[in-house]
Amino acid sequence: MLYTTALIASVAACVAAVNDNTWIAPTASDRRSPCPMMNSLANSGYINRDGLNVSMSSIETALLNVVNLDPAVTALVGAVAIKASTTGYADTLNLDDLDKHGIIEHDASLSRGDWLDGKGDNHKFDAAIWTNTAAHFTGDTISIEDMAKARAAAVARANATNPAFNFGAAQLQGSTLECSLILGVFGDMTDGNANTKQVRTLFEQERLPFEEGWTKPKERIVISGIQNLSKKLLAVAV
Ligand code: HEM
Ligand SMILES: *[C@@H]1O[C@H](CO)[C@@H](O)[C@H](O)[C@H]1NC(C)=O
Ligand SMILES: *[C@@H]1O[C@H](CO)[C@@H](O)[C@H](O)[C@H]1NC(C)=O
Ligand SMILES: *[C@@H]1O[C@H](CO)[C@@H](O)[C@H](O)[C@H]1NC(C)=O
Repeated sequence: MLYTTALIASVAACVAAVNDNTWIAPTASDRRSPCPMMNSLANSGYINRDGLNVSMSSIETALLNVVNLDPAVTALVGAVAIKASTTGYADTLNLDDLDKHGIIEHDASLSRGDWLDGKGDNHKFDAAIWTNTAAHFTGDTISIEDMAKARAAAVARANATNPAFNFGAAQLQGSTLECSLILGVFGDMTDGNANTKQVRTLFEQERLPFEEGWTKPKERIVISGIQNLSKKLLAVAV
């Protein structure tokens, strides 16, 4: 009887652990991506923790519920992302499919190395590269100007170290979009001013920074808001 009770209790604990949104580091076989947001969502079970066969609709729902991101934004990025899918299903991807260079993945990331014809690591967090970026985040908040300078530094670093550096209009747009998302999610859609500690947590720990005081943005993050921030980022003289 006691044995049965203990067994039931341990099964219940196990079910609770996988169903709730506790942060759990990925295991060696879990798939992860070059995107700190996707990885954080997976680490907290908002999308499949194993990173396998993740449906676009589950990504849309997670980003809407957790980040207040308009599904139209996810659909826009997702339509490109799905081209990298290796799952055999039209509407799912494995998170590491996003590593594929030239779909969304690009050179001059803020926290990752360049693809370098397969010789580089373009997907895993790289502390040295991130240190180069975060050197521009000296205040409690990250302004549009700080982010523009950090992005320019990443471009300069990659350009100086990657003989096959490829950074045209599409890569510039993608990288600017990523920076705008960070400014908007951890700051506001007008001036950015993203919370530095929260942004560092997302990149360095791949964890949504609730413990650092972050809450879901009150206003829905829409395409026009991201375009506003992108324009402002591109207007900074660096
Ligand atoms: C609120 C939503 C999102 C945020 C805040 C976000 C944030 C970011 C950031 C900051 C980066 C740049 C990392 C770096 O330069 O080191 C990035 C990269 C990336 N993201 Fe996301 N992302 C979001 C949604 C998505 C979605 C929906 C997808 C696709 C399913 C996606 C796929 C990617 C990919 C493939 C990269 C690699 C780009 C590179 O080479 O640096 N992201 N993301
Ligand atoms: C993958 O996702 C598809 C579409 O949602 C589903 O039909 C299929 O059963 C899933 N396959 C596995 C192995 O989980
Ligand atoms: C990379 O460096 C070259 C040589 O200095 C320069 O002409 C080019 O504009 C740089 N590319 C970018 C994207 O900054
Ligand atoms: C974008 O900027 C315009 C012009 O300043 C403003 O009217 C609009 O409300 C902004 N959109 C968002 C979603 O913040």
